[in-house]
Amino acid sequence: MLAKVFSATLQGVDGLEIEIEVNSASGLPAIVIVGLPDVAVRESRDRVTTAIVNSMLHWPRGRTTINLAPADVRKEGPAFDLPIALGLVGACEETPLPALSTFCIAGELALDGSVRPIKGALSIALAARKQGRRALLLPCANAHEAALVEGIDVFGVETLSQTVAFLKGDSNISATPHNAGELLERVGAQSPTEDFADVRGQHLAKRAIEVAVSGGHNLLMLGPPGSGKSMLAKRIPSVMPPMSLKEAIETTKIHSSCGLLANKQPAFVASRPFRAPHHTISDAGLLGGSANPSPGEVSLAHNGVLFLDELPEFRRSTLEVLRQPLEDGTVTISRAAGTLTFPADFVLVAALNPCPCGFYGDRQHACRCSITQVQRYRQRISGPLLDRMDIHLEVPAVTYSEMTKGELGEASVNIRSRVESARNKQRDRLGDGARTNARMRPREIRQHCALCTEGALLLQSAMQTLHLSARAYDRILKVARTIADLEYELKIAPHHLQEAISYRTLDRNLWK
Ligand SMILES: Nc1ncnc2c1ncn2[C@@H]1O[C@H](COP(=O)(O)OP(=O)(O)OP(=O)(O)O)[C@@H](O)[C@H]1O
Ligand SMILES: [Mg+2]
Repeated sequence: MLAKVFSATLQGVDGLEIEIEVNSASGLPAIVIVGLPDVAVRESRDRVTTAIVNSMLHWPRGRTTINLAPADVRKEGPAFDLPIALGLVGACEETPLPALSTFCIAGELALDGSVRPIKGALSIALAARKQGRRALLLPCANAHEAALVEGIDVFGVETLSQTVAFLKGDSNISATPHNAGELLERVGAQSPTEDFADVRGQHLAKRAIEVAVSGGHNLLMLGPPGSGKSMLAKRIPSVMPPMSLKEAIETTKIHSSCGLLANKQPAFVASRPFRAPHHTISDAGLLGGSANPSPGEVSLAHNGVLFLDELPEFRRSTLEVLRQPLEDGTVTISRAAGTLTFPADFVLVAALNPCPCGFYGDRQHACRCSITQVQRYRQRISGPLLDRMDIHLEVPAVTYSEMTKGELGEASVNIRSRVESARNKQRDRLGDGARTNARMRPREIRQHCALCTEGALLLQSAMQTLHLSARAYDRILKVARTIADLEYELKIAPHHLQEAISYRTLDRNLWK
C-alpha cells in the first residue's frame, strides 16, 4: 500500500516542500530510505519505529521503501520523523489515513512518541502556503511561530498517537490563532529598556547616531575607555522605527532557521535585532557558513544593528569578509553543498579606542603608547573597511559637570519620531519597501542629491584635502541627503554637506 505525506526542509532560510512516499510491499522486513537523506534522516528509521511501537500503533512489516522527493535535494535534520511515522502508519492496511496528503507535516519524535520542536517552522509554513496546502501539523512548541503566516491553518500536536487520532477524525485539535499583527503592535508599544535618556551629555554623538539611523548609514565611534561608546551603541535599536510585518517575518525566519526561537515566548522577532558578536568570532560565524551553509551574525542582524565592539581586536581577515554584505545588503556563501544567498541588510556600528592604552589625544590622560604601537593598532582596520563607514564619530570622555548636572538626556521616543519622519521621506522618494538613503543606487544619487554651486565647491575641496575615494564621495552625498531629510528640506544645502563632510574626520586625523 502507498501513502503520501508532504513535509518541508530548510534551504538556507527558506523552506522547500518535500514529498514523502511510503510504500509497503511483501518481502523480508526492512525499511529503506532513499532520496539523499543525511545521517539524522537515516537515523529517523530507528526513532520512528520505536515511537510507533510505544504509541501502540502499527506499521507495515514487509519491505517498506520511503522516498523523499525531489531526489536531488539534500534532506537534513530530524523534522521528517513525524511525517515518516505518519506515512508508515498510513501505509498499513489497518489504519488508512485518507486526509494525510492535505497537510504539510514536520516534527521530531522522541522514543515515547512525543513530538519535539524543530527549527525553521516559519519558513516551513511559508513554503506550505506557497504550495497551496490548506493546513500544517507541527509540534505545539512551534505552532505560534508558524501561525504568524496568514492563510494556512496551523495545528500544534504533542504526541504521535494524538496526531493519528486527529487525522482519523477521532479527536479534534483547535487551530492556533493568527496574531502576528497584534504581537507586532504590542512590542512596538513597549517602552525600550535601554533609553538615550540615560546618556548624559554627548550631544554630538547623539546627533550623529540620529543621522546614521535615519539614513541607515554605518557608524564608527572612537573614544577613550569609559566614554560611553558601548552604552550609546546599545541604545541605537531604541531609536529605530518599528519593523513592518514583512520585515519582522523576514527577520524571524532567519532567527528561526538557526534554532534561536526555541522555547521563546513569543517566538517572533518583532523588535529590531541588535547583534554584538565577540571579537574572537570566526569568519563563518560572522558571515554564515559551515558545511551546510547557515546564517551568520550579519544575517541575524538583518533589519537591525551589527555592533562590533573593540573593532581592532577582530581578526583582519574576519573584518574583510564584511565588505561584500556591506555593499550589497546580502551575503552569498558557496560550499560543496551548494550556493546560498542570505539577507544581510544591517546598520554597522563599530567602536574602538584611539590607541592600545586608549588615551591618545585625550585631554585628561597622557597616552603611554609609542607611535609604532598606535600605527600597528590602527592598521588592523583596513582602508576599504574604513571607506565603508559613513560617519566617523569621536566620543570624548564626559566631564564631571555633565555627569552630575542632574538633567536627563532626550528620551529615545522623541529621537525615534524624528527618525521615522525622515524615513517616511525616503520611502516616498525611493519607493519599494523600507529602502534607506544608504541603499540609494548610483542613478538615484545623481537624481536626488543635486548640489548647488557652493555645495559642489565645498565637496570638491573636501575631496582634495581628505583624498577621498569615489565611494566616499557618494557616501557623503547620501549622508547629506539624510541630514536634509531630517530638516524637511527638498534640496541639499551647503550646511547639510558641511555636516556630512565633518563626519569623515578620521580620514584626515588618524589614518592619513
Ligand atoms: N554619557 C554618559 N552618561 C551616563 N553614564 C555614562 C556615560 N558615559 C559612560 N557612562 C557610564 O560609564 C559606563 C561605561 O561606559 P561604556 O562601557 O559605554 O564605555 P566605553 O566607551 O564602551 O569604554 P571601553 O572603550 O572601555 O569599552 C557606562 O556603563 C555608564 O555607566
Ligand atoms: Mg565598550
